[in-house]
Amino acid sequence: MADRMTINYEKKPCYDIVFTEDFELLADELAAYDIKERKLAVICDTNTKRLFAETVVSLLTGYCKKVILHAFPAGEENKTLDTVRDIYRHLIEEKFDRKDMLIALGGGVVGDITGFAAATYLRGVDFVQIPTTLIAQSDSSIGGKTGVDFDGYKNMVGAFNMPKLVYMNVGALKELDDRQFYAGFAEVMKHGLIKDALFYEWLLDHMYEIHDRDLTVLHEMVMRSCTVKKLVVEKDPTEKGDRALLNFGHTIGHAIEKAKHFTLMHGECISLGMVAAAFISWKRENISMEEYYEVRDMFVPFNLPISIEDIDPNEILALTKSDKKMDAGQIKFVLLKKVGKAVIDRSVTDEEILAAVQEILFSDEDAKQ
Ligand SMILES: NC(=O)c1ccc[n+]([C@@H]2O[C@H](COP(=O)([O-])OP(=O)(O)OC[C@H]3O[C@@H](n4cnc5c(N)ncnc54)[C@H](O)[C@@H]3O)[C@@H](O)[C@H]2O)c1
Ligand SMILES: [Zn+2]
Repeated sequence: MADRMTINYEKKPCYDIVFTEDFELLADELAAYDIKERKLAVICDTNTKRLFAETVVSLLTGYCKKVILHAFPAGEENKTLDTVRDIYRHLIEEKFDRKDMLIALGGGVVGDITGFAAATYLRGVDFVQIPTTLIAQSDSSIGGKTGVDFDGYKNMVGAFNMPKLVYMNVGALKELDDRQFYAGFAEVMKHGLIKDALFYEWLLDHMYEIHDRDLTVLHEMVMRSCTVKKLVVEKDPTEKGDRALLNFGHTIGHAIEKAKHFTLMHGECISLGMVAAAFISWKRENISMEEYYEVRDMFVPFNLPISIEDIDPNEILALTKSDKKMDAGQIKFVLLKKVGKAVIDRSVTDEEILAAVQEILFSDEDAKQ
């Protein structure tokens, strides 16, 4: 069964998200965009080409003027302007014009690149997101942030560009390896912690079904996660204020990601960052000690780390200061006011950050437990 949700932009309906468990409704959903008269370019990476492209292309063939497939090598290292250039070339060869359309079939990398190519090719063509990772379904495909990395700097070049439609097939999540799946789950948990205590409780209650990737439960989980992202991006579409709440766990998380030279997954690092931020929230008496330990221990059954070896708290502190989330020299830190409600705080001190990093530093005592 399909569900839908409308994302508004400046208080007007902007695009729909369709939640389903397969690709069957795709041609019907796209029919609303007159695809009979348009060429479609399905953009994917080598993995999503292998897994899903044949199905998607065959479902669209006959329903549009022409469908072409463009695949680039999988991996964040290919989220570059060179990959975008190859897409432009292919579109030019195939004589794509203003009324034609791009379709992003893949994870956050494919979505960000395709959205950026769509924003810039011929000064803008329509695009549709078909997110296939949990990060992409719960986070990156909604909100219109698109872009590429540049000279090693993440997401340095980009544009806000809203899709026409987001088609979520939660069945695709069955193909993810466990590490990818749980790393994406960290963002889902974040959504519960920052804005929806009932959702957070629901996640705890459905732990076994989530492990089994029960499609009915994944369907509800992705929808509820998107509801939180919708609330936040509708209030602050261009990241001037409240959208920063989505950075819960990300200040210390990004610092760990850099200190570990990107050998850990993003979701693993932000889990550690969320534990650290929850620790500061406890020390400030926003949440109780019991709540802190409950939040911390909740990551464990989802295969996410709550402590880490071999990090230097002073290095982490220095790295938090080079993060983007600075406002006139002050870190915009996100703390829990309570479980299910986050707040932006500019008063977190170096000492508090150092103590929080110390808290997540793996100690011999942890090993004995
Ligand atoms: N635009 C935003 O708002 C936003 C938000 C969060 C993250 N991001 C970006 O998203 C990217 C990370 O997202 P990601 O983890 O989805 O990256 P990704 O697209 O690289 O996907 C991860 C890996 O999973 C593979 N894959 C995709 N779908 C699969 C499936 N169903 N089964 C098996 N394998 C599959 C991919 O080929 C890739 O190898 C980063 O570049 C990040 O900057 C953007
Ligand atoms: Zn994140």
